[in-house]
Amino acid sequence: MQDWATRYDLFWTARTKVFDEILAEEHSLARVQARFDDYERHHQMKSDGATSFYVEGPPPPDAISTLEINDQLIVAGTSIRAPALLDFRRDRLLARMSKEMDCVIELGAGYGRQIFDMWLAGATKTARYIACDYSRSGLALAARLARLEPELQFETAAFDLRDPVLPNLDAYGNILLFSAATMIYSQPFNTDIFKAIAAIKGSVTCIFFEPFGFQVNASAPHSKAQQLQMLANGWNLDFYEKLTGKGAEYGLEVIAIAQDLIGAVESPVQVLTAFVVSKPGQM
Ligand SMILES: C[S@@+](CC[C@H](N)C(=O)[O-])C[C@H]1O[C@@H](n2cnc3c(N)ncnc32)[C@H](O)[C@@H]1O
Repeated sequence: MQDWATRYDLFWTARTKVFDEILAEEHSLARVQARFDDYERHHQMKSDGATSFYVEGPPPPDAISTLEINDQLIVAGTSIRAPALLDFRRDRLLARMSKEMDCVIELGAGYGRQIFDMWLAGATKTARYIACDYSRSGLALAARLARLEPELQFETAAFDLRDPVLPNLDAYGNILLFSAATMIYSQPFNTDIFKAIAAIKGSVTCIFFEPFGFQVNASAPHSKAQQLQMLANGWNLDFYEKLTGKGAEYGLEVIAIAQDLIGAVESPVQVLTAFVVSKPGQM
């Protein structure tokens, strides 16, 4: 079995091929992403060990059928039936959180999708955006897509959660640092990243979107299924314990938790909880 670093490199390489075709026809980042999402709705990523590739999946429902209330979503811890077009606007949340920031940094950014989404949702123009990941093919694609938005001040940085060294952030006073489905790959959780965040000079607001509701409240409706899937995948089980233990010792304060904020019932590993964490600036 390949490690996740190799697997992700192959995933992003396969996605790059799809983007190559779209980029030959489209020049707006918003349209490029929409075309890519359409492609992913009726293709599935497969891997054969040496490579990753897409195979065609079932065709998506026609537009009128998407009006049917047939998706089983989780919203704020509650299961609801909803039309397939309903979306949680994480991009708007991040865009609003960016307003007072001079730097936005994502850990495990892949091809930069969350940063691009928040940018297109109106995130601040004056901040520097840094996409961190250990996958070179993901970051190469991110850098290429960022060129479609000349006003986005964007850079990529090699970063590995297993030995986390952040890029130099000394120039920034207010930093928004976030992750989306990345902390799952650290098991047991490597608290060196909390130490690295605590060592940043400026003040930092973190938001981690991770499938860790079961770690906060084991008896919530989706917790058992989520914990079983995390165990089956060998993914993280102790992020919250470490955040409130070692993280607190380093000076990180949990200021809000939105448990099981958004996700789909059939996939508990995608039911995300948002952890908002604050680290004051050093005077
Ligand atoms: C599920 S993807 C999410 C990508 C992105 N956050 C998003 O939401 O579009 C997880 C990302 O975490 C990265 N990742 C996994 N383990 C990592 C590690 N040890 N260090 C740095 N990045 C890692 C992978 O390369 C991948 O890009």
